[in-house]
Amino acid sequence: MKKISIIGAGMTGAATAHWLAERELADIVLVDVVEGLPQGKGLDLLQAMPILGKDTHIFGTNDYADTKDSDIVIITAGVARKPGMSRDDLLTTNAGIVGNAAVETLKHSPNAFYIVLTNPLDTMSYLTLKRTSLPRERVVGQAGILDSARMRAFVAMETGLSVENIQCYVLGGHGDEMVPLTRHSNIAGVPLKEYLPPDRLAAIVERTRKGGGEIVNLLKTGSAYYAPGAAVAQMAEAILKDKKLVVPCSAYLQGEYGLEDMYFGVPVVLGAGGVEKIIEYQLDDEERAALQRSAASVRETHEALKRLMSL
Ligand code: 2OP
Repeated sequence: MKKISIIGAGMTGAATAHWLAERELADIVLVDVVEGLPQGKGLDLLQAMPILGKDTHIFGTNDYADTKDSDIVIITAGVARKPGMSRDDLLTTNAGIVGNAAVETLKHSPNAFYIVLTNPLDTMSYLTLKRTSLPRERVVGQAGILDSARMRAFVAMETGLSVENIQCYVLGGHGDEMVPLTRHSNIAGVPLKEYLPPDRLAAIVERTRKGGGEIVNLLKTGSAYYAPGAAVAQMAEAILKDKKLVVPCSAYLQGEYGLEDMYFGVPVVLGAGGVEKIIEYQLDDEERAALQRSAASVRETHEALKRLMSL
C-alpha cells in the first residue's frame, strides 16, 4: 500500500484525509502538534471505513517519525484567514510552520512528492521547494483545481447543466488577482461566451476570484476545507495512478509564461513523475496582461518571504 502523510489535522487536513480515504489510494498518517487531535480524527475516520467498505488504514500522531517512507506529503498546517484578511496576511505565521514541516518530513521521506495547501499558497509552495531543495517536479501547490471547480460550480448553478460537462480553467496566483480564462472555458466544447451573456459571465468571473473570501465571510472563524481537500485528493490520485492529468496547479516556473523563479498557477501534467510538464497556452494580450498583474502580486509575497526567512 502506498502511504500519504498529511501535516496539519485541522479542518483542511481532516477533509483531505476524508476524501483520500474514500478513494482507497493509500494508507494515511495525520500529523499535528496538538496532542490528541490527529489521533482522535484518525481513529474516527478509520472507524468510518467499514461502513464505506474501504480498507484504507488511517492513524494520527504527533511524531514525524511515523511519516517514514511516505510517497506523498501534503502540507496543510498553518492558520486560516478570518474575515477582512487576505491570504498574504498569513505569511509570517505560516512560513515558520510550513518551513518546519517541510524540513521534518523530508528527513523521513526523502523520495516523497509534496503537495502544499497552506496559504499564501504560491509562496508556501516556493518555501517548501527552497527548504527541501527537491527538484521542481516534486513540489506542487494546490489552487487551480479548486479555483476552477468553483467557477465550474457557478456555471452549473447559472445554466442548470451538469458539472461534468463544464470545463473551466483558472490560472495565476491563488489570490483575488487570479485569472479565470473564459475563452478556454466551455460547456461540452461550446465556449462559455456562447452560453452566457457578458454580464452574467463577468459576475461568475468576479465570484470565482473572490470564492475563498465568500466562504471566509460566511464561516467567520476560518476558510474553506471541503473543496480544497477534494482538489488535493485528485492531485494525489493523479500522481499515484500516473494519470497524466492536465490541471491547473501552482508550479515552479523557470521561464514559462515569461516568469522566472516563482510559483504560479499554470496548466500542468500530473503523473508518476509529479509535475511532468508545464503546458503553455496561447494567450491574447488581455489574458497575458491579467496574468502579469497576478504574477506581480505573487512576486511581492515571494519577496516578503525572502526577507523574512533570509532565503
Ligand atoms: C480558499 O480559497 C482556503 O485559500 C483557500 O478557500
